[in-house]
Amino acid sequence: MALSLTKENYVLHRIHSLTGIVPVGYYMAQHLVLNTFSIGGEAYFNGVIGFFEGMPKHFLLAMEIFAIWLPLLFHAVYGVFIVSRAQNNYFEEKYKWDHNRMFFLQRVSGLFIFAFLIYHVLTTTVYKYTSGDPEVIKFAAWHAKLQNPVVLIAYVLGIAASCYHLGYGLWNFCIRWGITVSEAAQVRIQKISLLVCVGLTLVGWAALAGFLLKKPGIVPAAGAPEGGEATTISRPI
Ligand code: HEM
Ligand code: HEM
Repeated sequence: MALSLTKENYVLHRIHSLTGIVPVGYYMAQHLVLNTFSIGGEAYFNGVIGFFEGMPKHFLLAMEIFAIWLPLLFHAVYGVFIVSRAQNNYFEEKYKWDHNRMFFLQRVSGLFIFAFLIYHVLTTTVYKYTSGDPEVIKFAAWHAKLQNPVVLIAYVLGIAASCYHLGYGLWNFCIRWGITVSEAAQVRIQKISLLVCVGLTLVGWAALAGFLLKKPGIVPAAGAPEGGEATTISRPI
C-alpha cells in the first residue's frame, strides 16, 4: 500500500486509532489515578515519583521512549494531520446533530490536548531531565504552581479535554474495530464511554484538589502515614 503525505492511509489510521487506546489511553488513566496520591499528601505523592525515579535509568528511559513518547508523538502528529484534512464525519448519514457535534468536539479537544501536552511535558519531564532535579516534579512544586489561577485553569481544562477525548474515542474505537456492531452493544459502550469520561475527569480533578488542600513540607514520621508526628522539611519551589 503506497504511502502519501497528502492522503490518509488505512494502516496509519488504524495504528493511530490503536495507539489512542493502548498505550496512550491506558497510560493517561493510570497516570491520573496515581496522581491522586496527592490527596494523601506530600509523602505519598513523592513516594510514587520515587518509585519511578528508583528504576534503573536505562529501563525508565526505554519505557518512556517506547511506551509513552513515540506512540503519543505518532498519535498527536497524525491526529493533527487528520484534523487538517477536515474529513467529513463518516457517521453523518447514520447519526444526526448530537453525534456530529461530539465528533467535532473530539477533534477540537485533540488540538487543545496537543497544546496542553507541549506545556505539560516541557514543565515536567523535560524540565526534570534538563535541570537534573527531580524536585521540579514533586509535591511542593505542584502545590506552588497550582496557586497560579492560569496554571490551575489550564490543568482543569486539560484534564477534562483529555478525558472527553478518551471517552468519546473509546466509543469510536469500538465501532471502527467492529467490537460493537448491534445497536444494543453501541448503547452499552456509550454508557461505558460516559463513565470513563466523567469518572477520569473527577479522578484528575481530585488529584489537583489534593495538591491545593494539602500543604507541603509536612512529612509524616515513619510508620504513621496520617496524623503521626510531623517533621518539617524545606523544599525549593
Ligand atoms: C492532575 C494532573 C496531572 C499531574 C499532577 C501530572 C503529573 C505529571 C508528572 C509529575 C510528570 C513527570 C513524570 C516524570 O517525568 O517522571 C508528568 C508527565 C507526563 N504527563 Fe502528566 N500530569 C497530569 C495530567 C496529565 C494529563 C491529563 C495527561 C494527558 C495525557 C498527562 C500526560 C503526561 C505525559 C505524556 C507525561 C510525560 C511522561 C514521561 O515522560 O514520563 N498528564 N505528569
Ligand atoms: C496530543 C494530541 C492529540 C491529538 C491531536 C489527537 C487527535 C485525534 C483525532 C483527530 C482523532 C480522531 C481520529 C479519527 O477521526 O479517525 C483521535 C482519536 C482518538 N484519540 Fe486522540 N489525539 C491526541 C491525544 C490523545 C490522547 C492523550 C489520548 C488518550 C488519552 C487519545 C486517545 C484517542 C482515542 C482513543 C481515539 C479514538 C480512536 C478511533 O477513532 O478509533 N488521543 N485523536
